Amino acid sequence: MATRSGKGLLVLCFLLLLLLVSSSQARRLTARQHFEVRKHLKRLNKTPIKTIESPDGDLIDCVHPYHQPAFDHPFLKNHTIQMQPSFHPDRMFGTSMVESSTEKSDITQLWHTNGRCPDGTIPIRRTTKEDVLRASSVKRFGKKSHRSIPRPISINPDLVNENGHQHAIAYVEGDKFYGAKATINVWQPKIQQSNEFSLSQLWILGGSFGQDLNSIEAGWQVSPDLYGDNNTRLFTYWTSDAYQATGCYNLLCSGFIQINSQIAMGASISPISGFGGSQYDISILVWKDPKQGNWWMQFGNDYVLGYWPSFLFSYLADSATMIEWGGEVVNSEPDGEHTSTQMGSGHFPDEGFGKASYFRNIQIVDSSNNLRAPKDIGTFTEQSSCYDVQNGNNGEWGNYFYYGGPGKNPNCP
Ligand SMILES: *[C@@H]1O[C@H](CO)[C@@H](O)[C@H](O)[C@H]1NC(C)=O
Ligand SMILES: *[C@@H]1O[C@H](CO)[C@@H](O)[C@H](O)[C@H]1NC(C)=O
Repeated sequence: MATRSGKGLLVLCFLLLLLLVSSSQARRLTARQHFEVRKHLKRLNKTPIKTIESPDGDLIDCVHPYHQPAFDHPFLKNHTIQMQPSFHPDRMFGTSMVESSTEKSDITQLWHTNGRCPDGTIPIRRTTKEDVLRASSVKRFGKKSHRSIPRPISINPDLVNENGHQHAIAYVEGDKFYGAKATINVWQPKIQQSNEFSLSQLWILGGSFGQDLNSIEAGWQVSPDLYGDNNTRLFTYWTSDAYQATGCYNLLCSGFIQINSQIAMGASISPISGFGGSQYDISILVWKDPKQGNWWMQFGNDYVLGYWPSFLFSYLADSATMIEWGGEVVNSEPDGEHTSTQMGSGHFPDEGFGKASYFRNIQIVDSSNNLRAPKDIGTFTEQSSCYDVQNGNNGEWGNYFYYGGPGKNPNCP
């Protein structure tokens, strides 16, 4: 009896010891993680001059331009911010006539309802601890997965489900491009699972679709993991190594230099188009400054947001070789099953205006720095029964396409 309970006690002690050791290890790990998260937040969140609380819960920090994350980059230590591009393809060549013929867009950002940043500052969406903890790791926070590589040419159908990313896009290739423009209809697609996203954007691409892809991207997105909600947000992205070590969304790493005091990257867009109701769209123009080589971005007709310095890139330091416009979603369902995450409005292109989402007046900047209609536009989708794309051309909308879909449906199981 006594020896048995003694043995029992010994086993109990041993188990307790094991528990103690493992729990203290767990605590150490967590403490280290917390330390890393805190360090990362300190890097991203700069001391604000003023903070505006958005109705969606975002904190928008108004920060001195020279304190933005770009200036943590060693190459930018002595950089003088360019307050304007040396060249603007739209204003020079009067293509904004296209815009004036349609209703003036009153689209803006939700946080404006509670205030504005003072002149001489830039608005930055504050990153929270929760934002970082939702990422698979501190290192991956703010980055797209390597599987994001858009691959419209010679896609291997076997890879479609393994890849998990699905597109419905229009594209041009086989020339030198110095920018692109589009007016994009804004929606709030439903996301089935928080680790999926749905976005609509343009891609400025250079290099091969292997390890060295250079990409500049801008548009709107719904990404619960990145932002912690289902709001539609303005975003940018860049990478110079196919989404591996370089690049990030918005201002979540050193790269993009913002000059604009009114528009915050990653902040919610408002209002959103309604099915069969009012339609709202945003214009995005990205172009290469022929003198300095930097890639500039403009939102709407009024907001020049800033630029990606040329030195961030290899191929794009010269020019782009491909432009894409359209939607992308992540399907996280295994075994060929399909997610019900929507692309665009969640409706197919053939439903048309007011129901399907669109890109209109898509244009490229050519080697003479003129904005003009692209030639030989191709379209691509992995599975048109899930998400589809249909392009067209008319006087007012120039080159346009409708795109999107519901994902999972009887024809897309
Ligand atoms: C910045 O300027 C200082 C002083 O002129 C110089 O010593 C340094 O090399 C410069 N750094 C870079 C990255 O250009
Ligand atoms: C986002 O939408 C999904 C359904 O589409 C819902 O389950 C989830 O709770 C929403 N998340 C937030 C943060 O509102």
